[in-house]
Amino acid sequence: MEDPKRAAAIAALNEIPNRGHGAVLIVGLGTGSTSRLFVEELGARVRAGWNLFGVPTSESTRALASAVGIALLDDEGPWDIDVNVDGADEVSAKLDLIKGGGAAHTREKVVNYASRRNVIIVDATKMSTKLGERWPVPVEVLPFANGTTRAHLERLGVPVLRVRDGHPVKTDAGNLIFDLKAGPIADPGALDRALRGIPGVVETGLFVGRADVVLVAGGAGVERLVPRA
Ligand code: A5P
Repeated sequence: MEDPKRAAAIAALNEIPNRGHGAVLIVGLGTGSTSRLFVEELGARVRAGWNLFGVPTSESTRALASAVGIALLDDEGPWDIDVNVDGADEVSAKLDLIKGGGAAHTREKVVNYASRRNVIIVDATKMSTKLGERWPVPVEVLPFANGTTRAHLERLGVPVLRVRDGHPVKTDAGNLIFDLKAGPIADPGALDRALRGIPGVVETGLFVGRADVVLVAGGAGVERLVPRA
């Protein structure tokens, strides 16, 4: 069978209004291995004549989008993004999300909120009943006073500083990530608000009510899920 992540990425092309023909479109470009496949597929369509601009959610996505021929808007905005396509680390039965496995969730959330529609592309391994069953919540924090911020986080879960090759992971903004073990999460919205109420916290990877469509690729093909009214 075709790689499920690529199947989800290709299915997301059907969510692009007018399939890129007609008026110029603005498309948000997510981060991660699944989004990467989407950007590659979208680049091929642009080279074939689709008319659009992208807004990248990370420096890695910026580099890839430029390499495959997608013109990009500047970082300042304001943007009026027609559709944003992004991956996720975990998707609950209510279609709430945990994101940030690639440390890009702050920019991803900014782009998500600037988008008319948000399409999430995942393989079936990402699905859970309640958020936090499979993943901790990535929390981006300022380096300044991160020990104090960590102590506050301990009231809400178990924070683990994200480290790679012996060094703390830095986001594109130069901040740190604590992965907060807090699951399964009874009320993701309340946890998101509590975390963002801590000074020093920049943003969380909880995306509550922010997916308009979730495309889930599994053995039987790609399932299109929308939130219940
Ligand atoms: C980036 O910070 C994340 O939010 C990604 O969107 C998420 O980790 C999904 O990545 P994969 O598509 O690589 O699983």
